[in-house]
Amino acid sequence: MNEHVRHTSAARELKDNVAVPFERARAMPPSVYTSEEFLAQELEYIFKREWFCAGRASALANLGDYTTFELAGQPVMVIRDKDGTLRAQSNVCLHRMSTLLTGSGNTKAIVCPYHAWSYNLDGTMRGAPAMKQNEGFCKENYRLPQVRCEEWLGWIMVTLNPDALPVSETLREVEGLIGQYGMENYSQTFFETHEWDTNWKVLAENFMESYHLPVCHAGTIGGLSKLDEMDCPPGKEAFNYHFILKDDTLKIALAHPSNTRLEGNWRRTTTLLAIYPSLLITLTPGYFWYLSLHPHGVGKVDILFGGGMSPDFVNDPDARKHFDKLKNLLDDVNVEDRGCTEKVYRGLCSEFAAPGHLSHLERPNYDFARWISSKIPA
Ligand code: FES
Ligand SMILES: [Fe+2]
Repeated sequence: MNEHVRHTSAARELKDNVAVPFERARAMPPSVYTSEEFLAQELEYIFKREWFCAGRASALANLGDYTTFELAGQPVMVIRDKDGTLRAQSNVCLHRMSTLLTGSGNTKAIVCPYHAWSYNLDGTMRGAPAMKQNEGFCKENYRLPQVRCEEWLGWIMVTLNPDALPVSETLREVEGLIGQYGMENYSQTFFETHEWDTNWKVLAENFMESYHLPVCHAGTIGGLSKLDEMDCPPGKEAFNYHFILKDDTLKIALAHPSNTRLEGNWRRTTTLLAIYPSLLITLTPGYFWYLSLHPHGVGKVDILFGGGMSPDFVNDPDARKHFDKLKNLLDDVNVEDRGCTEKVYRGLCSEFAAPGHLSHLERPNYDFARWISSKIPA
């Protein structure tokens, strides 16, 4: 007998999962983390259409500074052009289609590592060796395809979607919420890339809730944050956020004495922003750090990890000391998060995996799940 197998897609399961009100909500079903079909939908409906963060604009300060990454399968470069603008464009050669630049760095021209066709910073062709005899070849006809790139509060934002709304419009409410920190003036002191063995959403969700801080981070920042001093309001359309009040154990998490912009509790408030789909920012009065995530298969995530200090701490004579302390702390915190999120992924792959109920401190996770579900046709 050829039984008709009923196939419930991950998108369908998620839709049912998020139809429940928050008061009774559960974690997302395992299939949304492990299904190849769902990953393909995420790439198509989320990463190809939304804004992706490629780091801080100040990290590409000089003419010819560049960085490269893959966005929904497309190799892309962002480069500081001669006129000072940040330009995003295809990182694929127009000859036999090798990728061009690798990693991050500085260059005067974009030279293909295969046969040395070369391009100006604006993507127009500069020259190609031994191409005089092909009658069809005309260098004026070649230019690297351009990709949309916007600078927003110091972030480099890129999208493959010609119809996406401008970042400043989509994220106007973020500016209202955290404007008083002056995040655009924070400077980046480190930038690294990592790859962890977990699904990208597990790491994003880990960031969105501080419920895990006292336990997963018992060895580092766990003691600095109390569950009853966390505030997790409902999310907004394009992002979610929550607040933690910090005590004075870690000086750099509080406003510097020379900082007169922040008042009252804001002087010790950490804001955690999750900008959909995958830009996660921890913003404190003294420092910031961020993750920008991109899936790398269902079980791996590519991570851009950077951070730095507010201008008042940078200008402090003890800046080096502050920075070293911060970076060591973040590295230790990351080891703990890596352990927890890789364990979650292993658990999710189990046949025993079943989503439990969410705490009120996981409100942002619920909003994230609803956002994802709204983007993916079920
Ligand atoms: S593939 Fe780039 S020069 Fe040949
Ligand atoms: Fe964490």
